[in-house]
Amino acid sequence: MSEALRVAVVGAGPAGIYAADILTTRDPDASVDIFDRLPTPYGLIRYGVAPDHPRIKQIIVALHRVMENPRIRFVGNTHVGVDIKVDELREFYDAVVFATGAERDRSMGIPGEEADRSYGAADFVAFYDSHPDRELHWDLTGAKHVAVIGVGNVALDVARVLAKSADEMLVTDIPAHVHAVLADSAVTDVHMFARRGPAQAKFTPVELRELDHSPNVQVIVAPEGMEFDDESESALARSKSLRMVVDVLSEWAMRDPKPGPHRRIHIHFLENPVEIVTDADGGVAGLRTERQELRGDGTVGGTGLFTDWDVQAVYRAVGYRSEAIEDLPFDHAKLVLPNAGGRVLNLDGAPLPGVYATGWVKRGPVGLIGHTKSDAAETITNLLEDAPELSRATQRTAADVDALLAAKGLPVTDFAGWDRLDAHELAAGEPHGRGRVKVVDRAEMSRIAARQA
Ligand SMILES: Cc1cc2nc3c(=O)[nH]c(=O)nc-3n(C[C@H](O)[C@H](O)[C@H](O)COP(=O)(O)OP(=O)(O)OC[C@H]3O[C@@H](n4cnc5c(N)ncnc54)[C@H](O)[C@@H]3O)c2cc1C
Ligand SMILES: NC(=O)c1ccc[n+]([C@@H]2O[C@H](COP(=O)([O-])OP(=O)(O)OC[C@H]3O[C@@H](n4cnc5c(N)ncnc54)[C@H](OP(=O)(O)O)[C@@H]3O)[C@@H](O)[C@H]2O)c1
Repeated sequence: MSEALRVAVVGAGPAGIYAADILTTRDPDASVDIFDRLPTPYGLIRYGVAPDHPRIKQIIVALHRVMENPRIRFVGNTHVGVDIKVDELREFYDAVVFATGAERDRSMGIPGEEADRSYGAADFVAFYDSHPDRELHWDLTGAKHVAVIGVGNVALDVARVLAKSADEMLVTDIPAHVHAVLADSAVTDVHMFARRGPAQAKFTPVELRELDHSPNVQVIVAPEGMEFDDESESALARSKSLRMVVDVLSEWAMRDPKPGPHRRIHIHFLENPVEIVTDADGGVAGLRTERQELRGDGTVGGTGLFTDWDVQAVYRAVGYRSEAIEDLPFDHAKLVLPNAGGRVLNLDGAPLPGVYATGWVKRGPVGLIGHTKSDAAETITNLLEDAPELSRATQRTAADVDALLAAKGLPVTDFAGWDRLDAHELAAGEPHGRGRVKVVDRAEMSRIAARQA
């Protein structure tokens, strides 16, 4: 009988954790080490999901149970491709599953995109979610009117965080420096722009409705963009969820303004952003859009009617993208690891033996946390089918891996360390009646995880 399968999963987001769970369930002898370049597990659940969505973050309870499996280890603070090369990893594992997600902003390719105060949503999200490697500072004092480009759920998160009051956000896990930035905000009006119509919006109903929940925020839908073509009508007939989204938008387009709110969110459909207008200092001075018309099949065409919107900052929420991993092929058009059913493919289209992908790096940056489970199931099915033919690692024990990491001098964190950091953050929230306050500094996180604080 061959030796028990040893697999490395790279990325401790939901896709990686589900892959480890499915593998160890289907193969009762297999063991998995899950590497992450962060000291913490859970990927975008910790550093993407909005702070005012604590219920969604509860999925961590189920993922924690998976991580308690003694055949699954967490190896944090280990950047694969940088701290440890892919080939090096292959000496220790029979297969490697990449679940590295998508963390950066997709580019729009319009003039002015690089202007000061033209921000990628992924950068703003990483700021307010306190990602240890990203911006610690953000300036919300210089813009009263801001644009958010895109009508997906990330655009909703960004618009909501910009519009809610700092004190409404204080019940969440945001650290003091994020609260201070939000408290200093000059924003009064957030303008969201969709290049297509309401029936092409990517919102989900619950998340859309939530935009209107704050007593401090007024949502206004510009009625002139509420247009539908034949394809819109059939899309609405096909999808109950889309129908709910459009019903909410239609209601908002018709209602009278509510009295009092301090901030407004305006949603404009059929306005395609074509240029971020800049001032002499290279800062955002406006957004130019071209009015679109629906062509009947859900696509749009320009009308030649342009509008300049008086905004002083632009947030581009047009989708995330994955990054290439050193020594692995990368599909630069689709911005994913090239793969067939999770089997990573060489540039010639042949499978790269023993290398797999799952989650957003496998299929692109769309879908909810739950969808990464079915992704993982497909990838692991294929891995197990290939397993008898995989060439076996030469160094096969956890001690072998630990010796390599120690020789490299990496400040590796383990799952017990995460539990210590978790307990520390929960305790920091308690005196203030908050569920948690996040630790931001990477070195401090690692110290707390290692009990050296
Ligand atoms: C702003 C935002 C909000 C969202 N909110 C929700 C929500 O409310 N509800 C919902 O269901 N879905 C939400 N989603 C979608 C959800 O986050 C994704 O479906 C899911 O996180 C994708 O999982 P993943 O494991 O593929 O990637 P990720 O969650 O991104 O995990 C990837 C992990 O890989 C690690 N990594 C990357 N490169 C390396 C490397 N080279 N070496 C080692 N480790 C590496 C990263 O540090 C990260 O921990 C949101 C997405 C975004 C962008
Ligand atoms: N609370 C939650 O459940 C939650 C929160 C956040 C994210 N998520 C999930 O995470 C995934 C990613 O969300 P996302 O919002 O990043 O992506 P998304 O749902 O794909 O939305 C992207 C938006 O950007 C627009 N866009 C793309 N390129 C554009 C361009 N060049 N000009 C103008 N607009 C452009 C798209 O319009 P077109 O359709 O016209 O291309 C679309 O409206 C989604 O599955 C989402 O549901 C869930």
